[in-house]
Amino acid sequence: MNHIFPSLKEIRFTDEWISFLRSIAGDYRFTTDDISTISSEYEEMMNDIRAVYKEHEPSVLSLKEGLALYFVIRSVKPETVVETGVSDGMSSLMILKAINDNGIGHLYSIGYPEVGMPRLYGREPGWIIHGDLRAKWTLIYGKTSDKMPPLLEKLRSVDVFLHDSEHSYPNMKFEFSLALKYMHNGSILLSDDVTSNSAITESLLDRGLSISNLTVLKDSEADFGGTVIRGGK
Ligand SMILES: C[S@@+](CC[C@H](N)C(=O)[O-])C[C@H]1O[C@@H](n2cnc3c(N)ncnc32)[C@H](O)[C@@H]1O
Repeated sequence: MNHIFPSLKEIRFTDEWISFLRSIAGDYRFTTDDISTISSEYEEMMNDIRAVYKEHEPSVLSLKEGLALYFVIRSVKPETVVETGVSDGMSSLMILKAINDNGIGHLYSIGYPEVGMPRLYGREPGWIIHGDLRAKWTLIYGKTSDKMPPLLEKLRSVDVFLHDSEHSYPNMKFEFSLALKYMHNGSILLSDDVTSNSAITESLLDRGLSISNLTVLKDSEADFGGTVIRGGK
């Protein structure tokens, strides 16, 4: 099946990719030292996760995706961030680090713990989040179909939404469509595995929103993308 991603970009981890990061980071100026610092923290955490998983490969955001997420949050300085799909907590960690460095914002994460698999090895979703970072975090246990509607109704407005739960078409369509109802001009819609299906483009078009600035980081280490909402309520 062919899906429409107008600005699909094949970007390698090179100068071109760093230019892409600069373009999404807007006014926020970061240096290659900032990239190195976040990369080292990511790698350190991955070592902890791999030590737990041993023979299984953890299902977390890649370094490229994690950096993109961190710099988007640094740039936008959102007050309210909502994410779905927590697992070990790598995406939560990247968002919470950026929130902590911004000095503003709160993350709401909806996580449905794996059952019957050796995943997480009995640990709680988001087990890698420690210390002060937890002060800016609300973790909600359950399926997004049950937990997203009351959460968004309570929050009323979402500045950044990240999908990283089940990457099926019905679930992605449900999450994007619902999240978009609470997003405003300047909000950011983000997704991992964004090219799995056409849910993101359809959800934007259904609400009369443009897909022309939908940008996707896609190569062997990333399938991560999103768009700034222009127009809408
Ligand atoms: C790809 S992993 C998330 C990785 C995480 N974002 C990270 O970077 O470390 C997907 C997670 O979504 C959870 N999940 C799957 N379906 C879900 C649903 N309907 N609602 C909430 N969580 C769900 C799975 O249990 C799994 O923990």
